[in-house]
Order: sequence, then C-alpha cells, then structure tokens
Amino acid sequence: MRIEWTSYIQTNNELLDSQHKELFSRMNRYFECTECNSTHQELIDTLNYLVEYVKTHFKTEDDIMTEIEYTRQKEHRRSHRELTERLVEIYKELIDNGASDELHDKLARLCQVWYVAHINDFDKRLASYIKAYNRAHNNV
Ligand SMILES: [Fe+2]
Repeated sequence: MRIEWTSYIQTNNELLDSQHKELFSRMNRYFECTECNSTHQELIDTLNYLVEYVKTHFKTEDDIMTEIEYTRQKEHRRSHRELTERLVEIYKELIDNGASDELHDKLARLCQVWYVAHINDFDKRLASYIKAYNRAHNNV
C-alpha cells in the first residue's frame, strides 16, 4: 500500500507541508519494506525512522505554537500525544511480535485516518493562524 500526499491535505504553510511530505515518504518506506521480504530488524529500523520523524515534526509544530502563543496549543498537543502513543504502541508490538497483517492494517489505518484527519483539521487551522499572525506582525 501507499499513502499519497495530495493537495487535499495541503495546509499552504511551506514548512508544514514539506514536513508532512517527508512524513508520508517515511510511512511509504515502511509499507514498501513490508512487501519485500525485509528482516525483522529492517522493519524495526524503518518504523523507528518514522517514529523519530513524527517526534521531530510534532516538536517543530509545538515550537511554532509556543512562539506565536497559539490559543489552541493545548488541544493540538493532546492530538499529537495521542498520535505518538498509537504509533509507539504499534512500534512496540512490532518489536515484540513481529510483522503481521493485523499490525500492517493497524498502521495503515493510523496513517490514513488519523494523520490525514489531524492534518486536515488541526494543522490547517494552525497554518491559517500562523498566516494571520505573520500578517499582523508584518513578517510576510
Ligand atoms: Fe499537528
């Protein structure tokens, strides 16, 4: 399976969009890995590569939210925490039990439903706020 980045989830914030594309690319790298007889360790490394980037990306957004004193930072942070916990749970399951169709579906669902939903809701709203903030502070 592949998860395509489309303009449907474009936030129109250059930094956020480029990081989201990298996120999707790392998700796809893992899915490619599951289809090509990768070893247990290779799968773990590839999923870890995604987990690390998710953390980096959420930190980027969190730093921006702090900087612009985003009014909805708390709930946005909560959503990040949830997404991270779910992903780490899958990562641990992979380490403990190895790859399975069930685990693959779980990750696919998380990537498709949760990350896309998060981007479409939370991140688009944040991007609009950043734009308005920059305009108000003449940073455009
Ligand atoms: Fe976000």
